[in-house]
Amino acid sequence: MPLSANRVVFTPSGKRGEFVEGGSLLEAARALGVDLDSVCGGRGICGRCQVDIAEGDFAKHAIHSSADHVTPSAEVEARYASKRGAFSPGRRLGCQARICGDLVVDVPPESQVHRQVIRKRAETHPIEIDPVVRLYYVVEVREPDMHEPASDLRRLQQALHEQWNLNETHADLATLVRLQKALRAGQWKVTVALRKARDIVSITPGFAERAFGVAIDVGSTTIAAHLTDLTSGEVVAAVGAMNPQIRFGEDLMSRVSYVMMNPGGDKELTRVVREAMNALIGDAAREADVARGEILEVTLVGNPIMHHLVLGLDPTELGGAPFALTIDSAYEVRAYELGLDVAPGAFVYALPCIAGHVGADTAGVVLAEGPHLKDELTLLVDVGTNAEIVFGNCEQLFACSSPTGPAFEGAQISCGQRAAPGAIERVRIDRVTLEPKFKVIGCDLWSDEPGFAEATSNIPVTGVCGSGIIEVIAEMFLAGIVSEDGVIDGELVGRTGRVEPVGRTFAYVLHEGGGPRLLIYQTDVRAIQLAKAALYAGAKLLMERAGAKPERVTLAGAFGSHIDPVYAMALGLIPDCDLAKVASAGNAAGTGARIALLNLAARAEIEGVVRRIDKIETAIEPEFQRHFVAAMAFPNKEDAFPHLAQRIALPPRKEPSGEGGRRRRRAAAHGGPLTPS
Ligand code: FES
Repeated sequence: MPLSANRVVFTPSGKRGEFVEGGSLLEAARALGVDLDSVCGGRGICGRCQVDIAEGDFAKHAIHSSADHVTPSAEVEARYASKRGAFSPGRRLGCQARICGDLVVDVPPESQVHRQVIRKRAETHPIEIDPVVRLYYVVEVREPDMHEPASDLRRLQQALHEQWNLNETHADLATLVRLQKALRAGQWKVTVALRKARDIVSITPGFAERAFGVAIDVGSTTIAAHLTDLTSGEVVAAVGAMNPQIRFGEDLMSRVSYVMMNPGGDKELTRVVREAMNALIGDAAREADVARGEILEVTLVGNPIMHHLVLGLDPTELGGAPFALTIDSAYEVRAYELGLDVAPGAFVYALPCIAGHVGADTAGVVLAEGPHLKDELTLLVDVGTNAEIVFGNCEQLFACSSPTGPAFEGAQISCGQRAAPGAIERVRIDRVTLEPKFKVIGCDLWSDEPGFAEATSNIPVTGVCGSGIIEVIAEMFLAGIVSEDGVIDGELVGRTGRVEPVGRTFAYVLHEGGGPRLLIYQTDVRAIQLAKAALYAGAKLLMERAGAKPERVTLAGAFGSHIDPVYAMALGLIPDCDLAKVASAGNAAGTGARIALLNLAARAEIEGVVRRIDKIETAIEPEFQRHFVAAMAFPNKEDAFPHLAQRIALPPRKEPSGEGGRRRRRAAAHGGPLTPS
């Protein structure tokens, strides 16, 4: 008698088919191409194939589904449940439940291979998990036999073919040396981590189900590593450390100079950064209780010089025009070749660089923010000692870098300091009295609120961090202390004790009494003007090239996550835009590295996008200088800021007068640096 066909519908995919009695739900899912996971190959060990059997009538599908339309739970599932906890009602292992009636079967997100990782900001790139490395449990690798001589590797390859339909798998020496011990320790059962279904990354005795990867963002100041579960997409440890290359030079160019002046200096810089990365991986693994051997893939982003130094490529050519990269495409290398102690055959995937000054970190930002996927014209700004800027949408993207220098990070600012407890991070200046109030990192109170002194008794006010500098100078401009041209108004000396003469210029007293006196000098204002003018001029070049203005501005990097968009715009650091669409993306470069870690297709995507980006070299663009000069003014000499004007009252244009003004004009007449023309 022929076996009757049973209708089975899988949700949420809606895939359906008819199946004879006795086949498992995992087999049915595979036959239909339903996204249902399995590491153990249907042996009831991994628990990845869990499904929910729906109960009731489903008119849409013309199906009556019931839990007794599959075979009852038996020993294998009971054993799994006794180890991992009881199933919720209706939940079954797809590989054990066998079809004996019509069914509606739901595949929950945690059982889908290509599940989505939820991201906090809706406008960002979705992450679908489809990692480059997957685990395969292999049972019954044939034992060696005198009568049938075949090597251990050949018999493992045969088992991979027979049990998982994987052909032409390959092991390099680093994994091969561990093969025989692993097979015997596992009594001919092993879990193989395979990359791109081809390269053996690790061989673990017995059944293993944990797979991790690390996304590393090598910045010139800090290195950040995100240890990520390759199955769930969850970040299990996020760690950071200072880049030890700092002792060879604070900024990128001084490190390139070190390499130029010291034969073998590049090797030294490579060695220390690799050691730091390896130590960081160890820290993350310890924090999350993960073995280094469970880390199966590493992705890497960094600016061009960091990218080159990590790979062991001499960055000398990046120190001057025409800024030739050794390589700009994405690159894969075995992790052990970079001295990283992870799974023996693991690879490092470095994202592509965009141009000599626009690196794999910016490629990461693009991948994370996905401007190439949207109609909306997005301006992405990653602020560091160089601002890396991308502008465009799905039709066209432009990129450039602009030499902002380290002022935004607090360097070159007399009272600047890194963001740390005791640093001023928020500032407000009374428009009438010109008295300031501020907040310091480590205390939620404003300085004029009761209890501030007690609350900060253990955290003395020591300086101003990057976001505080933006705010204090913007507030000085909005309060009329600084003119549109960036000159501290000496006429205020008689009106407030907060403005005082310093040599031939003036300064604003932000803080005194307790800790060091903190003054904002004319040179500080000038340093911020130069930095923000460079940033804006770069963005303006891209806007001109695109013939459009941004509809969204996204600030990436640590600096971007702390600055208030209103103040950034009031200074003219970024172009005018609907303020509701100006946001910080945090460490978007690192997020891009994490996306590349979790999704193979994302790698092809960013490689393709990067090749299509139109690169603009600011150094040879004649218009850059003109934009730079206009952008020295607050917020800008030429460009209007209508959205900003709706939000805040911009001060009336003010020609500087008094001592400050006279000195300014004199300096200008002598070709001095104070005044942009
Ligand atoms: Fe592993 Fe079902 S496939 S438990």
